[in-house]
Amino acid sequence: MKYFIFPLSLAVIAAVLTLPVNAAEVDAGALYQDYCSVCHGDKGDGQSHATQGMVPPPRNFTSPQSAVELSHERIMAAIKNGVPGTAMSSWKSRLSDTQIAEISNFIQQKFMLPTTVTSASEGSRIYADFCSVCHGDTGKGAVWATSGLNPPPVDFSSAETQAKLDRQRMIKSVSFGRAETAMTGWEHRLSPAQIETVVDYVINTFMSASSAKMVSADSSKDSANARADMSQPLPFGLQGDSINGAALYMSNCSACHGASGDGRGPRAYFINPKPRNFLHTSSRAALNRPALYDFIAKGKLRTEMPAWEKVFDRQQLADVSEYIFQQYIQDH
Ligand code: HEC
Ligand code: HEC
Ligand code: HEC
Repeated sequence: MKYFIFPLSLAVIAAVLTLPVNAAEVDAGALYQDYCSVCHGDKGDGQSHATQGMVPPPRNFTSPQSAVELSHERIMAAIKNGVPGTAMSSWKSRLSDTQIAEISNFIQQKFMLPTTVTSASEGSRIYADFCSVCHGDTGKGAVWATSGLNPPPVDFSSAETQAKLDRQRMIKSVSFGRAETAMTGWEHRLSPAQIETVVDYVINTFMSASSAKMVSADSSKDSANARADMSQPLPFGLQGDSINGAALYMSNCSACHGASGDGRGPRAYFINPKPRNFLHTSSRAALNRPALYDFIAKGKLRTEMPAWEKVFDRQQLADVSEYIFQQYIQDH
């Protein structure tokens, strides 16, 4: 640039340059206030006067489930077309496409949790690209491979496989392959970090469900209400940090499960079935560390209990499990 810029004109240029950005944000915020907050709340948490009569209630944008489910595209589609059968109507006659995109950005930036889903989806992408051809979408082995390969791919979901494999061994097998089998080594095609990512994906997706089965099978072996073994450690050799866990619990779980663990958090009133009361004798008999970890990771279908593995990494899952175990379950 050849011309001189005096301090004053510099300030003017800066103001002009930043104006459109600020204006868009202010604009989107104002639109949100005008059109959306009446139902979704000023804080985006779905807590508004309108909430009580509405089935389903307005979406809480701050929840982990929203973080997982609501992509930019899905938010825009919801604003544009509404959600049939709910109070969420279509706004396309009142808002332009640009405004819709801006409100969507606004919701994502102001209200939504960051997620660790990127690494989970990286794992699922690697698996789909390189592993599912033999191991199948369900981890039990693709049909052609189970009949056509000798030995066949392992069935990740079987108890037998899980007894045999641990994370270290899996990383080694995926890196270097298994002699005399169709399982070749991937060390030249995947980085060490990618190998760990896909192994964790396999463990989380196909293998942890049956660690829960193993826990419940163990406890039903004796009598129906036998106490679970409370000395069982967390899965995958994890050590939970209950101090970290306490912070995670207070910001993510206490709204439903209550600060004292009694299942009577402020949101519990609106929810059916009710959040679990960790102080109840049945919880104290059943929820050992691995059971907690597994329930928290997988959530519970058809209830409001989200699958936290989509939001927390494993260490965080271990931390919050450890906190609940020490604070509410153990030695009471
Ligand atoms: C009259 C109340 C009401 C108003 C006003 C309203 N919503 Fe909703 N909204 C709802 C309800 C109820 C749902 C839940 C639908 C469901 O759970 O399937 C919802 C769901 C959503 C979802 C999630 C859709 C999905 O795919 O799950 C988004 C995003 C959304 N609203 C954005 C907005 C935006 C942006 C505005 C303002 C332009 C707005 N809403 C105005 C009631 C409202
Ligand atoms: C061409 C088919 C094929 C592909 C592709 C393949 N596998 Fe395998 N995999 C097998 C077979 C066959 C076995 C059984 C080997 C055995 O019995 O020792 C196996 C075994 C394994 C095991 C258990 C090894 C052990 O220590 O017993 C793991 C873990 C594994 N595969 C992960 C993966 C991952 C992750 C990928 C993708 C990066 C992948 N596999 C790609 C065929 C395949
Ligand atoms: C939106 C409300 C809500 C939030 C937030 C929530 N939960 Fe839950 N939770 C529930 C409900 C509902 C159930 C299921 C009760 C049932 O099925 O009887 C449940 C069940 C559970 C169970 C017991 C599962 C069982 O049936 O034995 C555990 C453990 C648990 N939640 C842990 C957590 C942790 C840890 C967090 C935070 C990271 C959390 N929950 C956040 C609503 C919630």
